[in-house]
Amino acid sequence: MSSDRRKFLKHLGTSVLLTSASLTSFAAREEQEIRTLRAQKRVGPNDKIRIATIGMGIMGFNDTNAALTVPGVELVAACDLYKGRLARAKEVYGAGLFTTEDYRDLIIDRKDIDAVIIATSDNWHSQIAIDAMIAGKAVYSEKPMVHQISQGLAEIKTQHDTKMVFQVGSQRVSSIAYKKAKEMYEAGSIGKINSIEASFNRQDALGAWQYTIPLDQSVQNVNWARFQSNAKAKYDYDPKRFFRWRNYREYGTGVAGDLFVHLLSGIHFITGSKGPEKIYAIGDLSYWKDGRNVPDVMSAVIHYGETKEHPAFQVTLRVNFASGDGGSSTTKITGSEGVIDLGGDGEGFTIRKNKMTQAPGIGGWDSLSTYTEAQQKALIDDYNKRYTEAQKTRQKFPDVIYKAPDDYNASNDHFANFFDSVRNGTKVVEDAVFGFRAAAPCLACNDSYFENRVIRWDAENMKIV
Ligand SMILES: NC(=O)c1ccc[n+]([C@@H]2O[C@H](COP(=O)([O-])OP(=O)(O)OC[C@H]3O[C@@H](n4cnc5c(N)ncnc54)[C@H](O)[C@@H]3O)[C@@H](O)[C@H]2O)c1
Repeated sequence: MSSDRRKFLKHLGTSVLLTSASLTSFAAREEQEIRTLRAQKRVGPNDKIRIATIGMGIMGFNDTNAALTVPGVELVAACDLYKGRLARAKEVYGAGLFTTEDYRDLIIDRKDIDAVIIATSDNWHSQIAIDAMIAGKAVYSEKPMVHQISQGLAEIKTQHDTKMVFQVGSQRVSSIAYKKAKEMYEAGSIGKINSIEASFNRQDALGAWQYTIPLDQSVQNVNWARFQSNAKAKYDYDPKRFFRWRNYREYGTGVAGDLFVHLLSGIHFITGSKGPEKIYAIGDLSYWKDGRNVPDVMSAVIHYGETKEHPAFQVTLRVNFASGDGGSSTTKITGSEGVIDLGGDGEGFTIRKNKMTQAPGIGGWDSLSTYTEAQQKALIDDYNKRYTEAQKTRQKFPDVIYKAPDDYNASNDHFANFFDSVRNGTKVVEDAVFGFRAAAPCLACNDSYFENRVIRWDAENMKIV
């Protein structure tokens, strides 16, 4: 038995766990209990964490709600550049909520605020995060950590210098399914990794970022000047550029920064990788020709060289916003002895495991039948003498299926990890180095596509070569 396989079985504890149903219920129950205990932990008055959310759009509300599932967390302020969203924040969280269009009001003037959630468009993540850490706030920054690769090292340095708690918001790295998949991967469940395919396929206008624009949008109700104040190229007010900013490179990061980054965050988390060495991407604007200047179908081929953390492997990433398959997402990690297939948004996985036969095989789709009868007989006799029946049979193992509980939400756990760190100084699961090492290769996909070249990346030092 190989040492990988021994480690794998030892890790599982008993072979009974190899049956899919028992692993599913065992793991889900175990994790559920841990989370329930954590949620019930008593929180004293001094344990209160006061937060503000900057960027009160779709994710601002989602993140705030996830943050508020953690005991002792209180929302005291919100910042946004559209008046309607500030009014909505008061409707949802109470008329007493302090609101502003200038995030500096929250990080500089409000000493009572401990932590900020940054859920703005991508173009503002880095600047607000740096300003907030310097002002002494813990930061939960939405992904991608930066809008430009050139911003990464300065943000990491600020975190290092200020020692403020900082976490990036790729919630799948806190997901119980990803945690379990990582354990199984490290236990050798799929042998030696060699390739990964990961994708998002969508087939609807909202999925392609044509979000609803409010009827009262106007230059009076939107702080357009502030929104584009850090952009090199300035445009006249355009509601599409504001409410559907993802479609424009000036404010968003395209499908690569928006969605590849989820895929690479999960891949780096499971494999322990610091990142790739070579990146190439192609793209097309295939269907959503609504004025956007980023592709709606994009594919990348990314090479990870051999390191002490892992053997060399290849990653192919794809996003398709006009996909006739209706909508799906996966990350399929392939090794020499199995595949970890993670579907959806981190709520489960299946491990399919097969072991290569020791005997090479003879006959069937082979050259054997092209030789004379006498040759064929001699070859088969010789083959049967050399290999036992066991050596000739492919070992197929039962699938291992893991599924998180139906109501599971990885964002809640991601915030629980963040606030644990704010309270107890425990290590965050997705620090600035991890966040940048996931974001930079994705942003390099954009550079590769727009500049039509292969990008070389020094993952250790986090620099374009
Ligand atoms: N982790 C996830 O699963 C996930 C999912 C969706 C979005 N996101 C990320 O969350 C962020 C927000 O996405 P969204 O879909 O909520 O966008 P959105 O357009 O719905 O909301 C963004 C809000 O940010 C505000 N904003 C922009 N610049 C600002 C500034 N300087 N100061 C204050 N407010 C500002 C805008 O007014 C807008 O209301 C993006 O970076 C996105 O990548 C993460």
